[in-house]
Amino acid sequence: MKKSESPYKVHLFLCTKSRDGVRKSCGDGCAPELKNILKDEIKNRGWKPMVRISESSCLGVCEAGPNIMIYPQKIWLSGITMDDLPAILQTVKELIEA
Ligand code: FES
Repeated sequence: MKKSESPYKVHLFLCTKSRDGVRKSCGDGCAPELKNILKDEIKNRGWKPMVRISESSCLGVCEAGPNIMIYPQKIWLSGITMDDLPAILQTVKELIEA
């Protein structure tokens, strides 16, 4: 096993888990569409060397979703809608500049 430090200043884990309506899950909301938009925004803003967004499976807080977990800052964003895109990007910007 090799152990190394993450190269990212901000790493977003966006849950896109879908249970096909059997039980509430992030994939039922805007998560899949939001992931693609966030990837484009991160790239277009030149944040890519510092910021990574990874699609994740269940983060364990399904009822609160869609959810994004941000590390290493230990920030959770929950109940996300597409209207939250500017606020998510502002949060990432502030974390980069911190
Ligand atoms: S389905 Fe997203 S946190 Fe469980």
